[in-house]
Amino acid sequence: MKVLKIKGNELLNGTIRISGAKNSAVALIPGALLGDGKITLCNVPNILDIDALEETLKYLNVKVKRASESMIIDTKTLENKPIPYELSSRLRASYYFMAVLLAKFHYMEMSFPGGCTIGKRPIDQTLKAFKAFGAEVIEEETKFIIKAEKLVGANIELAMPSVGATINSILVGVLSSGRTVIKNVAKEPEIIDLCDMLRKMGAKIDGDGTSVISITGVTNLSGCNHDIIPDRIEAGTYTIIGALMGSHLKIDNIIPNHIKSLTDTLEKMGCNIEIYNDYLIVDNQNSLKKINIKTDYYPGFPTDLQQPFTTLLTQCDGISHIEENIWENRFMNIPYLNKMGASIEIEGNKCIVKGKTKLKGSIVVATDLRAGASLLVAGLIAEGETTIKEINHLLRGYEEIVEKLTNVGAKIEIKEI
Ligand code: EPU
Repeated sequence: MKVLKIKGNELLNGTIRISGAKNSAVALIPGALLGDGKITLCNVPNILDIDALEETLKYLNVKVKRASESMIIDTKTLENKPIPYELSSRLRASYYFMAVLLAKFHYMEMSFPGGCTIGKRPIDQTLKAFKAFGAEVIEEETKFIIKAEKLVGANIELAMPSVGATINSILVGVLSSGRTVIKNVAKEPEIIDLCDMLRKMGAKIDGDGTSVISITGVTNLSGCNHDIIPDRIEAGTYTIIGALMGSHLKIDNIIPNHIKSLTDTLEKMGCNIEIYNDYLIVDNQNSLKKINIKTDYYPGFPTDLQQPFTTLLTQCDGISHIEENIWENRFMNIPYLNKMGASIEIEGNKCIVKGKTKLKGSIVVATDLRAGASLLVAGLIAEGETTIKEINHLLRGYEEIVEKLTNVGAKIEIKEI
């Protein structure tokens, strides 16, 4: 079993370069299959979720070449095959293949998608959108069969601005005949990144980044070259680490606006951050003020930073409150933080963090990706040694975590035990 060992309480100095965004890459890679030709993606993060998608592409007989941070996807030999549970269950984003295969072949079969266990993860809005385009959705015991004689542009209003349902609707809309209007869409930067790639491939999309997207369908899409945007959640995680242990820590290759809700919050707490065009510099503070946060859809405070941020709140003087409004079960890091010495109570979708508490190294479990990030932050500030088990969850979303942190002075290693 692989574990992450951290000897905490070391100041971190130097530069951490942020990789391409996981949640963009996991949409762009399936999205590339809509094109007839070669798609070259740059800034592809080297993480386990991308390995899982690469396996799915190869299973679908697509030619894939990966070199350092690029991926060349040649769709010429793409075959439409039922996607089995071993592949679909590896990550949530496997359900983007549903949209892509439906759009391209008007028929798809796939076992249910996987993803972190952070509460119920319904896909009713995606299925509603597929039906609006004219598809029939058959839900069997373990898989979906979705078919359509033809796909026709539709008017869709999402019940909530779901990232997944927005992406699936776009992926089908671009190859459906006529005009599609999708209301109450997600505004996340990853949605804009997907639309930027699809536009390079010949798609006609407007309104991404606002709450209404309109699309005029085309009959086919071509290849393109596309650079994936930097990962705002990775950037946010390292900024939080810098606010605790940074000694002039530079977080490089970022789009500052994408993490504004975090940097604004940190500044309110008394954190000293210098923000430049594509990097920031952060220093640890002896005392940070307590604060209350509520997670929300973009541009609100991201749920994906809530767990690492909770670790930071354990180091603030006074009582801070957290309200998690996106996922119902995103507090699985809390028992482990308490085991390390934090004082946090959970009440429904809220948490009360009493600070400031000293954290001590302990043996903890990364129950999901961002819970892993929360414990990583805890390990870096704790006295003594922390061992994080089930680190595959963490490696699903953070590229070269050991190398990046070691380079700035952290004592961290992956060990086989
Ligand atoms: N929802 C529904 N019905 C739907 C779709 C969503 O009720 O058909 C609800 C969900 O239960 C949730 C809310 O709507 O309460 C938002 O869900 P959304 O569809 O936006 O989430 P997602 O697309 O499944 C993506 C990211 C998550 C991130 C969320 C919110 C990917 C692959 N995943 O998930 O990332 O938390 O958006 O920003 O892009 C992570 O990276 O750790 C992660 C979990």
